[in-house]
Amino acid sequence: MAGEKKLHTRVIDARDINKAQEQIAQAGRILAGGGLVAFPTETVYGLGANALNGPAVEKIFNAKGRPSDNPLIVHVDRADKIRELAQNIPPEAWCLAKHFWPGPLTLVLPKQEIVPREVSGGLKTVAVRIPDHPVALALLKTAGVPVAAPSANLSGRPSPTTAGHVLDDLDGRIDAVVDGGPCGVGVESTVLSIENGQPVVLRPGGVTPEQITQVLGKVCAVAAWQEQSGDAPPSPGLKYTHYAPQAPMYLLLGKPEAVAEKMQAMRDEFWAQSQKVGLLLSRELSNRVTADAVEVLGERDRPVELAANLYSALRRLDETDCDVILAEGYNDEGMGFALMNRMAKAAGPRVLCLE
Ligand code: TXA
Ligand code: MG
Repeated sequence: MAGEKKLHTRVIDARDINKAQEQIAQAGRILAGGGLVAFPTETVYGLGANALNGPAVEKIFNAKGRPSDNPLIVHVDRADKIRELAQNIPPEAWCLAKHFWPGPLTLVLPKQEIVPREVSGGLKTVAVRIPDHPVALALLKTAGVPVAAPSANLSGRPSPTTAGHVLDDLDGRIDAVVDGGPCGVGVESTVLSIENGQPVVLRPGGVTPEQITQVLGKVCAVAAWQEQSGDAPPSPGLKYTHYAPQAPMYLLLGKPEAVAEKMQAMRDEFWAQSQKVGLLLSRELSNRVTADAVEVLGERDRPVELAANLYSALRRLDETDCDVILAEGYNDEGMGFALMNRMAKAAGPRVLCLE
């Protein structure tokens, strides 16, 4: 369970970074001194601690209620700093770092001794990335230490894309949140391992497998893991429920026409049982179906926009009194791949494939 609320959480306004240099430096000192600071990245807000300080990192797990075997991503502000954290770094990793950093790509590499057990969850590897956000980069620079940071939500909840979301989950549990405005990408980084030169996506995210394939000239695989197999997952995060709204969510996959009809039919069934229905859909479908609460993610064929709006829409639906959520599925190409991965996780077993 998450620890009790007892801290005063400072809110540091860095929406205008030029006016916030001194406050960002203060936040950097909190991190260097072993405190917890939430900060914006281009993907989602992270909850940071000094990655080389095991007890500081342990506080992240208490604040979030996160299972202790789920390792954290370490954030740095310069690529050469990963030498301190990782060893036997393959040439493919340097090539990808050069192309995508700063940016939403996390590389899983063999770890150095210095990386504490709390960060790596007991694995022999460490996950690293450079975030593409001026506030994050300024904070990392002033902190002067690598910063371990998972998404700054209570474990299991949708990731935060604004400082307000962070406070909704973690007010009183962390030392500070740096407000840098809403995050642009809206879904987390791609987590990638390189096994004998072969890139494998462990978690889809802001950089697509096609982009990785293009840069390396090698086909990028996507890890397939079945919970029922009894095997250890390639990334511990895969085995936990994630991104889920409080109300059960049904994900409807199929042609827009079929999705619209099924959504109306399901809504009517839930209404007949006096249940309140929330919808998560495209602008196109919102002209056809309505219910008690409606969240429009954007235009159907613009997955970048749909992804950027997903988590805030899920959180707003949580604030309504809906008993159930019906969500439209999208094409899983490009950024649609990460979007559909998150939506499927949010839905759990309630995915309906329509003809
Ligand atoms: O965009 C992001 O990646 C955000 C921002 C804050 O950087 N961070 C984020 O962290 O999403 P988190 O902790 O919510 O997700 C990290 C994922 C988890 O699924 C974890 O299991 C996986 O990365 N991971 C971390 N270290 C790993 C390792 N050594 N081997 C395999 N998977 C790892
Ligand atoms: Mg997370």
